[in-house]
Amino acid sequence: MLSNTIIGIDLGTANILVYSKNKGIMMNEPSVVAMNTETKAILAVGMEAKRMIGKTPSKVIAVRPLKDGVIADFDVTTEMLKVIMKKASKQLGLSWRKPDVIVCAPSGATSVEKRAIHDAVKQTGAKNVYLIEEPVAAAIGADLPVGEPIANVIVDIGGGTTEVAIISYGGVVTNNAIRIGGDQLDDNIIQHIRKNYNLLIGERTAEMIKMEIGYALVDHDILAMDIRGRDLVTGLPKTISITSKEIQQALKESLLQILEVIRATLENCPAELSGDIVDRGVILSGGGALLNGLQEWLSDEIIVPVHLAPNPLESVAIGTGRSLQFIHQLNKIMS
Ligand SMILES: Nc1ncnc2c1ncn2[C@@H]1O[C@H](COP(=O)(O)OP(=O)(O)O)[C@@H](O)[C@H]1O
Ligand SMILES: [Mg+2]
Repeated sequence: MLSNTIIGIDLGTANILVYSKNKGIMMNEPSVVAMNTETKAILAVGMEAKRMIGKTPSKVIAVRPLKDGVIADFDVTTEMLKVIMKKASKQLGLSWRKPDVIVCAPSGATSVEKRAIHDAVKQTGAKNVYLIEEPVAAAIGADLPVGEPIANVIVDIGGGTTEVAIISYGGVVTNNAIRIGGDQLDDNIIQHIRKNYNLLIGERTAEMIKMEIGYALVDHDILAMDIRGRDLVTGLPKTISITSKEIQQALKESLLQILEVIRATLENCPAELSGDIVDRGVILSGGGALLNGLQEWLSDEIIVPVHLAPNPLESVAIGTGRSLQFIHQLNKIMS
């Protein structure tokens, strides 16, 4: 039997979100944990920990326990989830009742990886834990008619991965994933600046550059931005000016790989569903979908309509929380 309180968790590589039917998105925090390297004590979780990345004294590290969409460090993930669940339970007034939790797993996750996600959530004191495939959750969260025999194409660009799935009649018909997402784009920027300017910048600076002047491969009015880092020759802090044109060039290779995986998935689509795709197009979700010009570039390349999900950063969490009503239709839910 299901108890009344159901919480949906999007355990993302970059962000962890918690959704409940009554409160909507209750929590949205970076998946970052700051810990003491000697005692392993957790010092901060979420935004507070993310602010520490690259800025901590030697005894403190800020780590991201999820990598490529799956758990890289089980213990730290569990500790992070415990902190998050405690806050959520408090907000929901659940001091004595255990909630049921639905959590999403990348569709490419192995059964061992899925089990790890399940167990980590279970250890936070959940009553029952259900797993749902991430693209299905994203589609439900984007209000697509996943229960009908119609092709719904979801492209979810997260921190660690890009997942492409065609969903029809409650299940994944075909899907592909690559381990290229927003983090890789950040890294492309770091490498570009290092190679061309001998300047070292941190992950957070790279992410800011991407959000502000990063563009998909479209024509645009060129923007410039001043950035600061450490000169690799003198070792001293230095400010340089960069343009959106060169950043676009730095992102090119990764963007083409994302395009390739979308193309490959569409090519794999059963003929009957291909017709739907021409009409209904592709829906973009995940934070990476917000890259400037991405929607325009992709629709030019794949020649079908490309839409942005209503809340790209929240679709998976919303869909996860709402998915129980689809439980009979969802093929691959496991408890
Ligand atoms: N406006 C933006 N432009 C480009 N990338 C963005 C933007 N906003 C967020 N992102 C990127 O989206 C990624 C996080 O997306 P998210 O869907 O939360 O990932 P995950 O599901 O892996 O936690 C990060 O790499 C972040 O830099
Ligand atoms: Mg995600």
